[in-house]
Amino acid sequence: MTEPVLACSDLRYAYLERFAALDGVSLSVAPGETVALLGANGCGKSTLLKVLDGLIFPDSGEFHAFGEQVLEDKLEDEQFNKGFRGRVGFVFQNSDAQVFSPTVREEIAFGCLQLGLDRATTADRVDDVVSMLDIGELVDRAPYQLSGGQKKRVAIASVLVMNPEVLLFDEPTAALDPRTQFWLIELLHQLRTAGKTIVLASHDLDTLPELADRCLVFSEEHRVVADAPTGELLADHDLLLRVNLVHERSQLLRR
Ligand SMILES: Nc1ncnc2c1ncn2[C@@H]1O[C@H](COP(=O)(O)OP(=O)(O)OP(=O)(O)O)[C@@H](O)[C@H]1O
Ligand SMILES: [Mg+2]
Repeated sequence: MTEPVLACSDLRYAYLERFAALDGVSLSVAPGETVALLGANGCGKSTLLKVLDGLIFPDSGEFHAFGEQVLEDKLEDEQFNKGFRGRVGFVFQNSDAQVFSPTVREEIAFGCLQLGLDRATTADRVDDVVSMLDIGELVDRAPYQLSGGQKKRVAIASVLVMNPEVLLFDEPTAALDPRTQFWLIELLHQLRTAGKTIVLASHDLDTLPELADRCLVFSEEHRVVADAPTGELLADHDLLLRVNLVHERSQLLRR
């Protein structure tokens, strides 16, 4: 078996040592695999993504990325930090927390410059991603003045510009209009086809077959209650009901 790109074992995490968010969560993601995190509000999806991005560190349990354990003091090492940040990109649930530069162009360039790429290379990459995401008309604007959907595109551009192997998306299609949702699902699909390793939190069962090979389902007690191929999970109506992913009268059951 190939070595996993991301491997978590028995993660426990509580905010402020009081508010439990992860309780014994394990997850292994193979290169090129796409995994969806599912579960009710507050079950721990965003928290797990924050661990996978090295933004928070588990109270116990281990997180390994690319075969190396990710620890707070290791991320303080510039070399390790650049290596990790260049290989893992995270698109937050709330784009407001992600955009902060004076202009969209600077926002998108920021990560590459942080990684030490020169200005010319960075500018080329920014141009590529701007045309790929069709945000040419936004580049001179202030990110904080954009609409939610526009900010989301900019946040995605600022991650894709670094061309990371692993992409983490926290509810990527939430609060987007149907056309932008469709566009984003297409983009995620393309990234999947291009062989990116993707972990995404989602509430949308309908798009799962297109976006994820596998699903990890959390209980409200912050534990993993299912880890199964997407097709298998969606066919298991009893499980979906038990973990509150569908309501008894939902469309899925009427099919
Ligand atoms: N900054 C914080 N301080 C204290 N508790 C927090 C904080 N962030 C999250 N929590 C708590 O941790 C638990 C897990 O939250 P998390 O944001 O990971 O859930 P989620 O699965 O992403 O939910 P949603 O579907 O609503 O986005 C929740 O009970 C939440 O109240
Ligand atoms: Mg969340």
